[in-house]
Amino acid sequence: MAALLACPECGHALQSSERSLRCANGHSFDIARQGYVGLLTGASTKMTGDTADMLDARAAFQGAGHFAPIATAAARACAEPAPTGARAFLEVGAGTGYYLAEVLDAAPDALGVALDVAKPAARRAARAHPRMASILADAWRGLPLRDNTLTGVLSVFAPRNPAEIARVLAPGGRFVVVTPTARHLGELVGPLDMVRVDPDKDRRLADSLADTFTCAEHTLVEFPMKLSRTDVTKVIAMGPSAFHGTPADDPRIVALPDITEVTASVTVSVYLPTP
Ligand SMILES: C[S@@+](CC[C@H](N)C(=O)[O-])C[C@H]1O[C@@H](n2cnc3c(N)ncnc32)[C@H](O)[C@@H]1O
Ligand SMILES: [Zn+2]
Repeated sequence: MAALLACPECGHALQSSERSLRCANGHSFDIARQGYVGLLTGASTKMTGDTADMLDARAAFQGAGHFAPIATAAARACAEPAPTGARAFLEVGAGTGYYLAEVLDAAPDALGVALDVAKPAARRAARAHPRMASILADAWRGLPLRDNTLTGVLSVFAPRNPAEIARVLAPGGRFVVVTPTARHLGELVGPLDMVRVDPDKDRRLADSLADTFTCAEHTLVEFPMKLSRTDVTKVIAMGPSAFHGTPADDPRIVALPDITEVTASVTVSVYLPTP
């Protein structure tokens, strides 16, 4: 697994030794007790990513299977066309590692690297799948991965760094991006004052990738979910609306029926590096 990683200070290969990874220039990075490798550097941003409470809520919601069709679609998009040889996948902003675990289940020989800037995410991803390594790193500071090594890079509701993603993809590799549409969780957004998805999100995504990538596939994945009040509190607590605080005893949640039918709506796009 260390063979995929690069020193975040100088870009050289990393070798594992005891509880750390080292490069030929003497930079050293600890493997935390919880199993992730800390690859943040002094130059990293002050970003801390999602909180432990958000990660707990997301793990509970994902564990209940509500987003399973999204995970299946993301795994299918990563796997096609069936590549040969050693395969390795990176998820940027991996959170719990839920989606990357699905990719690895669908690709029994493949390795995965989950990257997130949040420690609670790195801890969870470290135990999400036996073939998944977890690294704590800031996607905006450059990806601590070797050039031309990855079969696929996945970004689900997460940050993207197109130039860096193009650098780490192997020839023939693909970048799979999952973004919410304006209809995602639509039945909850108004009544619960949740942050709205920009209706222009798809166009902005395409614009931000246009210099580096060409869109090869664009698939709408939309389905109804039946959510209890507890599920609704989790789906709020796991996303950007959590920062505005919506406790379980909020009258708007108490007023919901026992089961609310809520739409999940995302696009799964496959991008190939522009030659
Ligand atoms: C909305 S969550 C999505 C997580 C996961 N893909 C999922 O859908 O379950 C976005 C994730 O990106 C991470 N993140 C935010 N900024 C980041 C950065 N600069 N570098 C790496 N990860 C970042 C957050 O900590 C969070 O786990
Ligand atoms: Zn180094």
